[in-house]
Amino acid sequence: MDSLLSVCDIKEDVTYILDLASKIKAGEMEEKPLQDKTLAMIFQKSSTRTRVSFDVGMYQLGGRAIFLSSNDLQMGRGEPILDTAKVLSRFVDGIMIRAIKHSDVEELAKYSDVPVISGLTDLEHPCQALADALTIKGHFGTFEGKKICFVGDGNNVCNSLLLIAPLLGMDMSVACPKGYEPDEEILNKAKEFATENNTEITVSDDIGIALENVDVVYTDVWVSMGDEAEAAQREIDFAPFQVNTDLMALANEGAIFMHCLPAIRGQEVTADVIDGPQSVIYDEAENRMHAQKAVLYYYLKD
Ligand code: CP
Ligand code: NVA
Repeated sequence: MDSLLSVCDIKEDVTYILDLASKIKAGEMEEKPLQDKTLAMIFQKSSTRTRVSFDVGMYQLGGRAIFLSSNDLQMGRGEPILDTAKVLSRFVDGIMIRAIKHSDVEELAKYSDVPVISGLTDLEHPCQALADALTIKGHFGTFEGKKICFVGDGNNVCNSLLLIAPLLGMDMSVACPKGYEPDEEILNKAKEFATENNTEITVSDDIGIALENVDVVYTDVWVSMGDEAEAAQREIDFAPFQVNTDLMALANEGAIFMHCLPAIRGQEVTADVIDGPQSVIYDEAENRMHAQKAVLYYYLKD
């Protein structure tokens, strides 16, 4: 069964899904294409945007979503992922899961007879990357010749952006402290995509180099869910990588600021940047729903 665990899973269809998302956003989608479809939503971690956008998205497409906190599922008491996948497949048409471990989602998808959609793992956040791409296209009208710089932790959000940027023809740089680079396997895969698409991917701990000719400055929290034990050390290590007006001044004129949210003002980004005129964070959050409705249509429509 086809599932969306990584941006790699939609390598061939990313443009199709984004075009569909644009049509959905413009109100050009047929009425209730997912009538009578049900999506199970398993959450092992907190969420505002992912939970609400998938739930409302399913409703708007004519279907329904069931919120399942992993604490309340038998899975949370040790029921095997295999049995959870097989049983849920008998009840629902798709499973969305936000999980602690990427490998658990791979196992769920392996045994599921219905599509599994990742709503974030420790490794990737593919639906966020789709929404981000929709936001960049919406703002600039094109991906061509655009460069995105991810500043901070080479985390799940950064990994998915690294994979989607070259597929859309964008250059991407990562500015991160030593020891916080993106996942090596993902970086290699992203570089492969970049070679195929004639784009560039670079990783550097030199902010000046990473910010050269940049149209999109993107950051995320220094302490992701699950990294809480390292919080004190991370605040020290990431301090020079705060996105503030001095850092934004290194980007191109007309550059935008993006953040997947939730954000901590005064840590990874200053309030004057995230609440300032270059910030597109609320369009970006709204686009989660449009992008995911396209994903739901793509995976769940008969
Ligand atoms: N960006 C994002 O995934 O937000 P939530 O954690 O609120 O779902
Ligand atoms: N990198 C963050 C993203 C939250 C949407 C985390 O994993 O906590």
